[in-house]
Amino acid sequence: NSNAKEPLKNVIVTGGAGYIGSHIIYTLLKTHKYKVISIDNYHNSFPAALTRVSELALTELKASLPTDTSPSPQDLDSVAIDVYKCDLLDSSLVRSIFSKYSSQNGGTGIWGVIHLSAYKAVGESSVIPLTYYANNVSATISLLQIMQDFGCHRLIYSSSATVYGVVDEIPIKETTQRQIEGKEGSVYGRTKVMCELIVEDLCESSVLTGSTTPFQAISLRYFNPAGAHPSGYIGEHPRGRPENLLPLLAHMAVGTVKDPVLKVFGKDYPTPDGTCVRDYLHILDLAAGHVIALQALEEGSELNNRVFASTTETGKGSKGRFKAYNLGKGHGMSVMQIVGAMREATEFDFKTEVVGRRRGDVPELIADPALARAELGFDAPRDLETMCRDLWNWQEKNPTGYE
Ligand code: WQD
Repeated sequence: NSNAKEPLKNVIVTGGAGYIGSHIIYTLLKTHKYKVISIDNYHNSFPAALTRVSELALTELKASLPTDTSPSPQDLDSVAIDVYKCDLLDSSLVRSIFSKYSSQNGGTGIWGVIHLSAYKAVGESSVIPLTYYANNVSATISLLQIMQDFGCHRLIYSSSATVYGVVDEIPIKETTQRQIEGKEGSVYGRTKVMCELIVEDLCESSVLTGSTTPFQAISLRYFNPAGAHPSGYIGEHPRGRPENLLPLLAHMAVGTVKDPVLKVFGKDYPTPDGTCVRDYLHILDLAAGHVIALQALEEGSELNNRVFASTTETGKGSKGRFKAYNLGKGHGMSVMQIVGAMREATEFDFKTEVVGRRRGDVPELIADPALARAELGFDAPRDLETMCRDLWNWQEKNPTGYE
């Protein structure tokens, strides 16, 4: 019939069960435009997160319909996630997943991939570099090869502000040089720079070979995502002790981490209060940025023309359809300011103790959000109070996360 919707586009989200992945999948489901496929090895995530995401989206779908109307089969399909427990380094299993949706099996193929899965602890990465290079870089190369073999040429790559290492100019623009030889940084940050360079070269190669469907990639450089869905039904649940500041504070306040004090990793940085400054943005704003970026990969769309009218200046004069965007709010908060904001949200009286610096930390990372705002229409309106309130709401309702 005339209002028949377009068929759902198959989109793979690697690391789909994770903190960032689950909130991105929730936001994708809400569009009712995609058949979402999650690939995750659950190294640092729980399959239960995806069950809850789908429940949340279905509940909201039903609530959006008139009482006597039930969802169409396609709308039901658009809030159901195909879930695979799979390590990206298991290339034969990844291939079997791609082939399941391929035209040979009556499918429409994988329209695009949002590649999130990676190890991401700045401190830990310096201690086990080969594990980080295998999991973050080799797995990405394997995924890209499989995408190429199956003619899948649209990628959203999960990158990080840590690609910039120590910067001279704050706020940071996408044209800021990434970590290079001798620039203070971290193994984790270097895995992200290497993957961006690999993706750039793939985009370039498909232009050089005159491909009719050139490989298109948008790399999203996250600053510091925080918070949770306001329902408190999904949130961040790292396996083991949380490394990141905000989840650690939430665990201390709810009592699942028994530390008597928060160790502040250095108070001798060249920043207003001596502690590191980061640009925190709400996880749902970050997720929304991914959906806009995915839509920007639609060849011929006005958004696609705008995004790829200019490629990211990489000094290589790259002509490939590669573009990088910072996802941040554009203002920074110090460790002590975050502690204060969480004290407000949790009413827990955190004690702090200043200790030595953490290897790999940089003094300040604040985004210049102008390019994503101008070209993607991306905005991150949710404020720090909302991030802390939503984080605390999740943690209080789920002291032991998804277990
Ligand atoms: C924030 C600040 C710490 C814990 C993270 C991810 C990284 C990337 C960006 C995605 C730092 C300080 C922390 C503690 C502390 N994410 N801190 N005591 O390091 O900016 O990076 O977000 O790509 O993968 O790791 O975030 O939350 O670890 O630290 O003083 O017990 O809090 O030194 O200055 P970071 P974080």
